Amino acid sequence: MLTDQQDNGGLPKYLRTAQEQNALGRGLPADFYTDPVLYATEQRELFARGWVPVCRADQLPAPKAYRPADAAGFSILLTNDADGRLRVFPNACAHRSMRLVDGPGAGSRMTCPYHRWTFGLDGGLQSAPLVGPRIDREACSLTEIPHELWQGWLFVNPGGGAEPLGPSLVGLDAALAGWGLADMVTVAAVEFDSEWNWKVMWENFNEYYHHLGTHADTLDPLLPARTARTLDNNGEPWSCASMTCGEDYLSMQPFVDLSSCPSTDMHLFSVFPLLCAGVQPGSAFWLRIIPETATRHRVSWEFLLPPEELGTPYFEERLAATMDGLQAIHREDMEACALVQRGLSGGLAAPARLTEFDRPVNQLHEWLLRRLVSSF
Ligand code: FES
Ligand SMILES: [Fe+2]
Repeated sequence: MLTDQQDNGGLPKYLRTAQEQNALGRGLPADFYTDPVLYATEQRELFARGWVPVCRADQLPAPKAYRPADAAGFSILLTNDADGRLRVFPNACAHRSMRLVDGPGAGSRMTCPYHRWTFGLDGGLQSAPLVGPRIDREACSLTEIPHELWQGWLFVNPGGGAEPLGPSLVGLDAALAGWGLADMVTVAAVEFDSEWNWKVMWENFNEYYHHLGTHADTLDPLLPARTARTLDNNGEPWSCASMTCGEDYLSMQPFVDLSSCPSTDMHLFSVFPLLCAGVQPGSAFWLRIIPETATRHRVSWEFLLPPEELGTPYFEERLAATMDGLQAIHREDMEACALVQRGLSGGLAAPARLTEFDRPVNQLHEWLLRRLVSSF
């Protein structure tokens, strides 16, 4: 469906069409959810040139250790030196690009299994069999990838060159002040394969409106869609939709501590494009989304708690009940997402008619189109 046709301003026609739809308050054309060419553009412009989440701070390697990781489908390597300095590299050997490490390791060096070049945790080449004395070690070291820690998440900018992330999130920081997110630790995770475009998952996660249909018998009686409100992001790369949790909802949560949070709100928030997270009294959660193709990604549902909850009475039982509940809700969401992708896949679907309850979706689209347009 995509063509090389350009309009007078030099933009590809599909992008101009999407801009026009966006200006009318409508969603992205269906191609944005199905087309492999457009997905490749997203990989380059949104994922490689943007900031994407990798893991939580509690999942980083310990000092003098390393591990591979996945950042929006890019294979990366995290190292932590003896001084506790974190570095991020492509997980590709500087010699001929062999995957450098295939699992977590401890020690101060990493040896490539292909021709046995050895690198330090700072990425420097330490030895290269047979040729070591003759090569320029500086030129053969691993190239560092920019990273930032924000609210306890490690973000990386895989392709480099992005503006710093933190200053662009001041509005979201204000909305999340007092929730202790940065200190929360990962206590459970569960993975799902998802045969739909990553944006279908994102859009489903970040609005409460679908509680009316998808979760009519489960969440909507407790978290009614009609009470949702979306913050104005002032053009920054994030969204945040909130609602106040009623007593019925809170009484059903296995981990609730009203004394340690600023309100009884639940905030669903995103750092564009891929972080999808939520915080509520006593706990938080996020979706680790790893896009794979235009119509497939992997998701890991990760549950976070303040560290002082660990080891409290009936912790394991309460955690198991929480994860059962999250999975039941996510299965309802997966069913909906699969059907949305089906609706999009025929190419007949008109761009979404977005309402004020879909405002986070509109905010993502505005940001995405700005990024794509700025690349021309
Ligand atoms: S590819 Fe790693 S040593 Fe050759
Ligand atoms: Fe849902």
